[in-house]
Amino acid sequence: MLKLVLLGGKGGVGKTSCACATSLYLAEYFKTLVFSTDPAHSLADSLGQKLGNQPEEIKGVKNLSALEVNAENALWKFKAEYQDQIRKIIETGTYLDSEDIDSVFALPIPGMDEVMGLKTMIDLVDEEEFDKYVVDTAPTGHALRLLSSPKLLDEWIKVMAKMRWKYRYMVERFAGEYTADEGDDFLLSMKKTVKKIEDLLRDPNRCEFIAVTIPEDMAILETERLINNLGRYGIKVRQLVINNVLESDSCPFCREKRKEQDKYIDYITGKFKRLETTIVPSCPHEIKGLKTLVDFKKHLFS
Ligand SMILES: Nc1ncnc2c1ncn2[C@@H]1O[C@H](COP(=O)(O)OP(=O)(O)O)[C@@H](O)[C@H]1O
Ligand SMILES: [Mg+2]
Repeated sequence: MLKLVLLGGKGGVGKTSCACATSLYLAEYFKTLVFSTDPAHSLADSLGQKLGNQPEEIKGVKNLSALEVNAENALWKFKAEYQDQIRKIIETGTYLDSEDIDSVFALPIPGMDEVMGLKTMIDLVDEEEFDKYVVDTAPTGHALRLLSSPKLLDEWIKVMAKMRWKYRYMVERFAGEYTADEGDDFLLSMKKTVKKIEDLLRDPNRCEFIAVTIPEDMAILETERLINNLGRYGIKVRQLVINNVLESDSCPFCREKRKEQDKYIDYITGKFKRLETTIVPSCPHEIKGLKTLVDFKKHLFS
């Protein structure tokens, strides 16, 4: 059964609006959580309610909760939870003393934002408090890093595992026998987590990625790259939303503009023929607050 829906695309194309509308739709049938991994959150603005890093029920909507992932906070929690195990691995596998290890811990780690976003995502899904999870991802580059971060995590695990092997070899060599400790438990559990994430993201029955775009040159080119890159990670995009399409043909400007938009719509649908495409009209008003989202939802799920 479908568990996780991710929405992604270039900045400003309507990801947040689509994520909110999708979650409103799902909440009609299922207990749903919508959350954003974009460090520049706008979920709260869109839903018209203050949000934090714990699921908060959306007032006026049954079955819908939301949160905004705070990577810094997640990293702090992660460190607090696993610091003993990680310390143990570094202590036994290197010549670093406890002071050195402190400075290693204080170092900013590249890609940490994404890894923590992903870790939070997996923890939430794992808790199984909700039936459906909708993710409002950051613009393309960040989202791709997020989805490729199982690889990054895997690299770290490999480095730490190497330290362990050295240690284990020495212990076996000199003490004759090696007993696994909390360091080994940690590595094993992280390894399992990575596998679980990859399995979920690549399982078309449980996870769905919806690409959101607008009919403009740069957005279309970025969408093409996004879909291709996701494919490389084993994540298949099946749905495409083309947002902001002009409907009215009663004025020369609109007719002319629509002609140009059609060119891009034809291009992208021709390029990805297997994609299920939904055209969403450009609305005369901003999509902000529950009332406008409910209208927007009708366009998305008509
Ligand atoms: N179909 C539409 N018609 C009119 N305004 C739209 C439409 N889709 C999105 N918007 C507006 O465009 C802006 C960007 O949308 P948003 O969903 O925040 O995009 P993203 O999350 O991709 O940056 C918002 O102000 C939103 O209200
Ligand atoms: Mg957004």
